[in-house]
Amino acid sequence: MKRVNEIDLNNKKVLIRCDFNVPIKDGVILDDTRIVKSLETIKYVLKYASNVIIISHLGRIKTYEDKMKNSLGIVCERLSNLLSEKVKFCTYEEDINSCINNNKIIMLENTRFFDLDNNKESGADDELTKFYASLADIYVFDAFGVSHREAASTMVSKYLPSAAGFLVCNEIDKLSYLFNPDRPFTIIFGGSKVSDKIGIISKLIDKSDSIIVVGAMAYTFLKAKGIDVGNSLVEDEYVPYCLDLIRKYGDKIILPIDIYEADNINSTDKTLVDINNITKMGLDIGPKTVDLIKDNIIKNKCIFVNGPAGVYENSTFEYGTKELFKILENIDAKVIVGGGDSVSAALKYSSENKFYHISTGGGAALEFLEGRDLPAIKNIGE
Ligand code: 3PG
Repeated sequence: MKRVNEIDLNNKKVLIRCDFNVPIKDGVILDDTRIVKSLETIKYVLKYASNVIIISHLGRIKTYEDKMKNSLGIVCERLSNLLSEKVKFCTYEEDINSCINNNKIIMLENTRFFDLDNNKESGADDELTKFYASLADIYVFDAFGVSHREAASTMVSKYLPSAAGFLVCNEIDKLSYLFNPDRPFTIIFGGSKVSDKIGIISKLIDKSDSIIVVGAMAYTFLKAKGIDVGNSLVEDEYVPYCLDLIRKYGDKIILPIDIYEADNINSTDKTLVDINNITKMGLDIGPKTVDLIKDNIIKNKCIFVNGPAGVYENSTFEYGTKELFKILENIDAKVIVGGGDSVSAALKYSSENKFYHISTGGGAALEFLEGRDLPAIKNIGE
């Protein structure tokens, strides 16, 4: 895979595919990690290229209302501020070529707006890929977060000389460490869906010394052990799978021993209960579980965290996630944090420089670790 500093960019028009799919609420960007991490590549390309064209998706566009809510305009403003340089925002209704020729750097509107036209972006329509290729001389792929998606805008290396940006190279270097980590090595799985993580659990369990399951995922495992989990979230179809994992790897799998429960995720009250006394919905781990995890990981050399320990977005249930990141930031181990929610939590309760790597990829990082081919990266710089 060719890196961006190994390709001639001099006086070329360069199309950079970024992943600026950032969380936005009420017109405010909640976390700009993905934009900040793209700056190195963009600044490097700006030094040599005659013109720079940035493209990205934002959200999922299925209806006209989705389109209205997901313009990249606000992201373009943030990028301009971070670069201290005007980035011209260009919609698809404008004359894009004159926009490119009259500006050093432009950002095009959300690539997924084309999904309203027969799913052209997400369905990897080849004509749309050719359209993107027609705008530039070189394609730089720096959107690690979307590298597992075969989309029109992620496959432009089919038609242009290409290279990977620094963000992508760094993700691959750092995440590859997990293929052969220093031992002991523990994985902390949290979040809500067992189904999203099944592949990675069974791929990494043999390579790890222990697996800690927290967050809503834990209740499917606890149910598999025959524990009454009240109204906690359970993916019933995965109970047999969890039981199988517990049978095969019982000693390695650590589950909560106490939890905070409440009526629902918006509650402002909570009760601490032993896992044998759950009657409501489990929404966070308790202090005994935090101590159990601390004892288990304190001597580790590598820890991979994928998913929060509770519904930390509601401060009533942030205890476990906050405590875990306090422990993790002080531990003498390489800690890798992957997945959107865990990254937001890590940056909320700690800071990036305390960890070996904070990945910009959620699904992409998991598919990479599973050993699957990432279609958008596969042919870069061939
Ligand atoms: C992500 O946030 O994981 C990537 O930007 C991919 O987004 P998607 O899951 O909507 O394809």
